[in-house]
Amino acid sequence: MAARHIVLRILLVVGVVGLLVASAVGVVLYRYWDGRAVSTVGELSFENPLRIPELEEGRVEDGRRVHELTASAGTTSFKPGLDTPTLGYDGSYLGPTLLMRRGEEVEVRVTNELDEGTTTHWHGMSLPAVADGGPHSPIAPGDTWTPTWTVDQRAATLWYHPHPHEQTEDQVRRGLAGMVIVEDERSDLLPHDYGVDDIPVIVQDRGFAADGAFEEGSAVGTQTGTLGDELLVNGTWDPHLGVTTERVRLRLLNASTARVYDYGFADDRPFLMVASDGGLLETPVPLDRIQLSPGERAEIVVEVEPRERVVLRSFAPDLGLGPLERFEGGDDNFDVLQLRAAADLDPSPEVPGALGDPPDFGPEDAVAERTFRLNGTGEINGESMDPERIDTVVRAGSVERWEIRGDGTAHSFHLHDVQFRVLAVDGDDPPPELSGWKDTVFLRSGIRFDLLVRFSHHADAETPYMYHCHLLRHEDNGMMGQVLVTEDGEGPDRIDAPHEHGG
Ligand code: C2O
Ligand code: CU
Ligand code: CU
Repeated sequence: MAARHIVLRILLVVGVVGLLVASAVGVVLYRYWDGRAVSTVGELSFENPLRIPELEEGRVEDGRRVHELTASAGTTSFKPGLDTPTLGYDGSYLGPTLLMRRGEEVEVRVTNELDEGTTTHWHGMSLPAVADGGPHSPIAPGDTWTPTWTVDQRAATLWYHPHPHEQTEDQVRRGLAGMVIVEDERSDLLPHDYGVDDIPVIVQDRGFAADGAFEEGSAVGTQTGTLGDELLVNGTWDPHLGVTTERVRLRLLNASTARVYDYGFADDRPFLMVASDGGLLETPVPLDRIQLSPGERAEIVVEVEPRERVVLRSFAPDLGLGPLERFEGGDDNFDVLQLRAAADLDPSPEVPGALGDPPDFGPEDAVAERTFRLNGTGEINGESMDPERIDTVVRAGSVERWEIRGDGTAHSFHLHDVQFRVLAVDGDDPPPELSGWKDTVFLRSGIRFDLLVRFSHHADAETPYMYHCHLLRHEDNGMMGQVLVTEDGEGPDRIDAPHEHGG
């Protein structure tokens, strides 16, 4: 009797386990089958003129440059006959390009006309933590937030976007983002006639549902976040740019939530990379590809011949994930933007052989070393973001060496308030495209990145800066930590969480 009972039980367990194994195998096969590459190469007609976001110079009040931005909801028609519900600043999608000049004092008045809270973060800007616009600076619906700071950094292509706790991906995806251009005498030597030979190229991938809405879900199997199968450039679908000068400067901004692009031209022509995230390179670097992960920027200068048409393309990026990367966009190719050169091109300035300055600090100045592991899809050093927890305290003005590694899937690492240098990638010198000022680096899985960071003088013992993965799904999942910058490098372990103010 008892023996028969045991046999039945064993049979039952074997059956259940077998079913589980079979369904797991089925899921894996299905995911593999479904992970087909996306390609828009050769599919576009480039019929729409590239939208150029309005350049906002602001107005000068009491010696301060004042900008205003209003976030609100609207509807945008990207594709013929389709209306897409979107968010934007001063319009229905994206926002104006804010112009700032090195050395000046600025104020931005950000009004929230959304029906939800938001924040406005100045990505790449060095500024006091209370002006940084991270999760500790919520703007309640109906409120206006007015940060002010002095622009104390090199000319660069920066950007602004929301950063509310756990809501960043959603708000960026719906359309809240814009460019900031910081100018100085050096950057004036490059083409800088905005919209003519100095062009913002804000690239975002989106999927469109049948009713025009942006798709929210992920393709089956992606660990990195939502990947769209079509591109928008400055909010323009299927775009071309009329070029009227011999050389054109493209400010490439990856404002996508998860997708990595490897830019180049369809005919493989070389271009000059002149700037990375935080400013001009010391010397321009000739390249034929430049890979950018979400949040990263690069400025490139490309030459065109009269009447020619050449396509800026994104080739399959190297995500460092081997056979798995096809699920994360690693096999995807996109036509991004067609350049259409005029019959008569105006002459352009030569690109100077010397551009930016080298850093005035080196590894020997480092007073601390820290390590950060980005693992899974929502943790750094095994901990998930807690707005009340301080993870790191540093001394204002000090230099530190940060060793970063990402595991499991693709990640990136972004640190607020500073522009850092990449000292080494897997122990070797960084490639030229990573050898300038950076605030965001793509972490190939399992590879160690050594960063040299000099913190700013913006000490504040109560308001932290963020560091996080810029794959926004990961960021919202908690792959973010908080660093306090204080006068003496000492600080509390915990702070008060942000509280919604006014309303
Ligand atoms: Cu671009 Cu913390 O953000
Ligand atoms: Cu940032
Ligand atoms: Cu990540």
